[in-house]
Amino acid sequence: MNVRIAGVFFQQFRSYSYKPVKRVPLPPASKLEVPESTSTKNFSLREELKSRILASGPIPVASYMRQVLTNPAAGYYMTSEDVLGSKGDFVTSPEIGQIFGELVGAWCLNEWYKFGSPVPYQLVELGPGKGTMMSDILRVVGNLKATGGLSVHLVEISEHLSKVQASLLCRGCTDHKDEPFYRSGVTSSGTKVYWYRHLEDVPRVFSIILAHEFFDALPIHKFQKESDGWKEVLVDIDPNSNDKFRFVVSKAETPMLRLFLNSLPEIANGREHVEISFESEALIRQIGERFHSNGGLALIVDYGHLGEKGDTFRAFKRHKLHDPLVDPGSADLTADVDFSILNQFCERTSQVFTIGPTSQRSFLEMAGAKDRLAVLLERAKSEEEKRRLTDGFRILTEENQMGSRFKFFGLYPKELRESYLGLK
Ligand SMILES: C[S@@+](CC[C@H](N)C(=O)[O-])C[C@H]1O[C@@H](n2cnc3c(N)ncnc32)[C@H](O)[C@@H]1O
Repeated sequence: MNVRIAGVFFQQFRSYSYKPVKRVPLPPASKLEVPESTSTKNFSLREELKSRILASGPIPVASYMRQVLTNPAAGYYMTSEDVLGSKGDFVTSPEIGQIFGELVGAWCLNEWYKFGSPVPYQLVELGPGKGTMMSDILRVVGNLKATGGLSVHLVEISEHLSKVQASLLCRGCTDHKDEPFYRSGVTSSGTKVYWYRHLEDVPRVFSIILAHEFFDALPIHKFQKESDGWKEVLVDIDPNSNDKFRFVVSKAETPMLRLFLNSLPEIANGREHVEISFESEALIRQIGERFHSNGGLALIVDYGHLGEKGDTFRAFKRHKLHDPLVDPGSADLTADVDFSILNQFCERTSQVFTIGPTSQRSFLEMAGAKDRLAVLLERAKSEEEKRRLTDGFRILTEENQMGSRFKFFGLYPKELRESYLGLK
């Protein structure tokens, strides 16, 4: 019996006794993006998800999110071409102004100097989007004559975005089948660039690892406190409409709920709702192992909180909130990064010490944002360019814009804790 036939079988005999989850309502339906058409791509992903649920019961939010974002045939990042920018679904800081990537670049070099400028060294970026931040960083690295011994390693799952990155960063590139990297190229100043699907394939060399709006795209498990204890939130088919999904709570303890309660009991205290990405934990562990064997540092930048929020899972389509359970694969799914949990993952590796999180505003100010803006304004060729620069600066730094919602979180090798802090 294939899964779909099994699905039909189970559908007939299944009792819909799961308890639905109540969430903060989205804006009125009129303000939500209504799917223009149900493409074959979205239809098949929806059918695939339905078959899984019908065959084995409601699925964890992490499984839903993983399929919707990265299903090889129909996942959002695998098939959508315009995800970033004014024509896409969302805009990120590096796309708002060159000042962002330039200051991150200057910070990276400053940290590298503190480590004694080890060579060879590599810049590793997880989920580089259009490659804009890396391009701005490389301009700074070139201007400060620090390209000797440098190579660039990009971890990118989207075929389309990897091509956009290659055309921005390289003079030309080659695809590979029998190498750990699937593409390679060279920048106009001669720096080699490589593309991978997984961090574990990136060479073991002193690395400056950057992740901007990457951790928020990693699948999360959602847990909710009910009157009879903690439950995992799952995705089920809506019994009132065969074509819709809904959130329900697990009837019994799920394996990931057990893992959460056993491994992070202090997080459960005093909270009603928790979102955890166990993929983040695996990445932090890998980063810690790299630090231990080859040295390096990492900077995670994302929107997030310190544990004061619980239910943040949502979707964006054309810059508007979208129901994450509608038309899967057509919109970006995201959840705020819980930095208090990320911090615990770092502590648990015993190979990482952390600095921050600090707000985007204070990081950019510390990195010299005002001075850099003054230089750019002086060089601006028109009033229009000046306006663009000041508007971008405001959006990046103001508290009610991206200044406080976005956080910078630094990871360093535990062994260097004392000497690093002494160097500050
Ligand atoms: C929200 S975008 C951020 C892009 C860029 N960092 C920026 O801020 O403009 C997420 C990026 O991560 C990539 N991505 C998402 N999930 C991934 C995964 N599991 N492995 C590798 N790349 C992934 C996407 O294709 C995209 O490039």
